[in-house]
Amino acid sequence: MAKYTIAWMPGDGVGNDVMEAAKIVLDRIALDAEYIPADIGWEFWCREGNPLPQRTLDVFKRTDCALFGAITSKGTDRADLELVPELRGKGYTYRSPIVGLRQLLDLYICLRPCKAYPGNPLNYRPGIDLVVFRENTEGMYIGVEFGRVPEEFYTVKAMEKVPRDAAISLRSITPGSSERIVRAAFDHASQHGRTKVTAVHKGNVLRQTDGVFMSVARKVAAEYPEIEFDDANVDAMGMWLLKNPLNYQVVVTTNLFGDVISDLCAQMVGGLGFGCSGNIGSHYAVFEPTHGSAPKYAGMYKVNPLATILAAKMMLDWLGETEMAAQLEGAVAQVIAEGKVRTYDMGGSHTTLEMAQAVAAEL
Ligand code: IPM
Ligand code: MG
Repeated sequence: MAKYTIAWMPGDGVGNDVMEAAKIVLDRIALDAEYIPADIGWEFWCREGNPLPQRTLDVFKRTDCALFGAITSKGTDRADLELVPELRGKGYTYRSPIVGLRQLLDLYICLRPCKAYPGNPLNYRPGIDLVVFRENTEGMYIGVEFGRVPEEFYTVKAMEKVPRDAAISLRSITPGSSERIVRAAFDHASQHGRTKVTAVHKGNVLRQTDGVFMSVARKVAAEYPEIEFDDANVDAMGMWLLKNPLNYQVVVTTNLFGDVISDLCAQMVGGLGFGCSGNIGSHYAVFEPTHGSAPKYAGMYKVNPLATILAAKMMLDWLGETEMAAQLEGAVAQVIAEGKVRTYDMGGSHTTLEMAQAVAAEL
């Protein structure tokens, strides 16, 4: 029996291309694992009305963790849904299965490292090396939205100023979820020799929800006196990150702000082709590139697989295979530094699989 069992979820679009690339590298490093394919994504929603079928949930129960490619998360709007003839007019609503999966499995940490590997022509500035801890289960992602304010809401006085034809989305921030994400950020900092944690919020406007988040953050920070703690409003943070990216080491924030800030940080170290991500809970984790499924490039083996390969590296770390993880990261760094193999986003013309083979050759 293999040491690990890993749920293998290519998803759709370029998800297949980049997972094939990841497999080349994992095979080369000889991770002792059995990979169990699992269905997720747009295709299954169209066919079965469910992008995350029960059989996939069953695979999670008998695997250690999952590696995931990409899926199409169509817009909120009906217009997208109307494109599927079988479903036209039926009013189905499609919710991103990756968001559902994070909540269902309580993968409360979204960890997004952003490192400027030397030699990457896409680096915004040399030396950037930070990690984003995004709360992954609540905030603006609870899915409680109304196209029109429900009548019974008007029994609450504060609602008087909200027009009757408003659409509303609720943001929920609990002390418990805030505490565990902030604690994860501080633990990571102390385990990885980081000396500073920055909490990001919009406390000057979202007084209640970010009031909870920040009061918990300050309380947790006090337990780690050796680590510097500061905070910033999310708008200012966008500015500061661009101005002084080297001032940041560990950034911790709520769900939607983390979504936005982590894209900004990924862009500073090469963009979509480099953004990797771990959705981590107490017992299970799903690793993925941050990018989407780019349907127009599906099957063309054009996109950069390094985001997925770096997600596989995060998976190795999480499994406790830290030596293998370090080797894999070293191989990625080496290929980037040499600059001989580059995918189109890096100004080159090598394919997805050629990039993976180049990384494998360094192992
Ligand atoms: C991400 C993505 C998802 C999110 C989308 C695809 C629903 O942007 O992982 O950052 O908003 O979390
Ligand atoms: Mg995002």
